[in-house]
Amino acid sequence: MQKRELVNEAIDTLKLNWRDGFTVPKNKLYPFQWNWDSGFTCLGHACFEPQWAMRELTSLFSGQWANGMIPHIIFHSETESTYFPNHDFWQAEVNPGAPPKPKTSGISQPPVHGFILEVLFNKFSDDPNWVAFVKAIFPKVLHSHRYFYTYRDPKSEGLAFLYHPWESGRDNSPIWDESIARIEIDKATLPPYTRKDTQLANQEERPTSDQYDRYVYLLELGKKHQYDGPGIFEESPMLVQDTLINAILIQSNQSLIRIGERLGLDTGELKEWQAQSTSAYREKLWNEDLATFTCYDLRSQAQIEHKEIGGLTALSAEVASADQAKKLNDYLQNLHDRGYYLCPSFDVDSPLFDSKRYWRGPIWPQMNWLIYRGLKAYGFQDTAEIVKNDLLELVSRLGFYEYFEAQKSVAAHLENGYGGGQFSWTSACVLDLLMVDG
Ligand code: SER
Repeated sequence: MQKRELVNEAIDTLKLNWRDGFTVPKNKLYPFQWNWDSGFTCLGHACFEPQWAMRELTSLFSGQWANGMIPHIIFHSETESTYFPNHDFWQAEVNPGAPPKPKTSGISQPPVHGFILEVLFNKFSDDPNWVAFVKAIFPKVLHSHRYFYTYRDPKSEGLAFLYHPWESGRDNSPIWDESIARIEIDKATLPPYTRKDTQLANQEERPTSDQYDRYVYLLELGKKHQYDGPGIFEESPMLVQDTLINAILIQSNQSLIRIGERLGLDTGELKEWQAQSTSAYREKLWNEDLATFTCYDLRSQAQIEHKEIGGLTALSAEVASADQAKKLNDYLQNLHDRGYYLCPSFDVDSPLFDSKRYWRGPIWPQMNWLIYRGLKAYGFQDTAEIVKNDLLELVSRLGFYEYFEAQKSVAAHLENGYGGGQFSWTSACVLDLLMVDG
């Protein structure tokens, strides 16, 4: 596909998925508004209908809880029935600070909205409507960061924990295997449920049913503790300081600090968090033997020793030292030299690597967007171009899918990507790369 065709198809896809106020990631498979999807989707809106970006964020923040949390799903429709778990399963109303409407889930996702807001602000800062919008939403984004520091960092380390794989955005990554294996599934006490995703996407590209039982178990654990109670920290078998959530938090803190300074807003709290988070991230999560950043398991009190894509987001957060960044760049160059598309979501040399199953190996468009910018920030222009061009090649050959095959030799025989087609963040990231950077 030529550049013009790619641009047109990306815009058509975003229009198709627009629901008069917000964007669904993919019709039927993900029929509501998702937290981090909506952030990346704004990058696309900004290229052809900037008002939609304001409306997208306004819709998302209409689901914010009193404790600051932006839920990972906002169920703007209560009748849509193609997704599990729906609002009636989450029962967010167990928390008195959840809004009565829109209905929401009870956990959050990587807090991308601070840095997305900065991208938008940089682009539209001459427009008084945008300046007013940024000023109005700034305290809400700040409050969503306060949620992580208040409810997810009980020892005040500067690193937020997660207790559910869905919070990480990387649902079935092998990095969670050990944590969720600690759960003892008792079918007699697990609430009955029916998955919908495997009726809409290829089963081999989705998490397994055993993993879903564990996701439901952790959802119920959160519900039991009103989704923000201290019992979560005390009881959850999964308790991890995630590389991705914390890198994104740091990246968004920094964006909010820059926005705040330009607009004369108070950034004191942000600066305190940021100083602590950046040093904790660099020291506690770096693994010299693996030459990457790793998640930290608060239950076993040890790093989760795998190479995976979360560690690479230290580049976009610019939290890696020059030496750490060089090692991450070498890792990517090596994968490229060995015939992989960049950036595989999991270690291709691990027996746990699975090049088609969701977060166990495939290439994810929004991750390429982040890592591309991170590599550029450190001056690794050549690798940055590979990361960008690999994504554009995959999309132009296989379509606007949710994720893609990582092995070039395998992808050469495929006619499509994996998961859902006509995907919103794929379209948005491609648009941004072609129209802003291309
Ligand atoms: N990614 C999850 C799903 O597939 C939920 O956020 O349903």
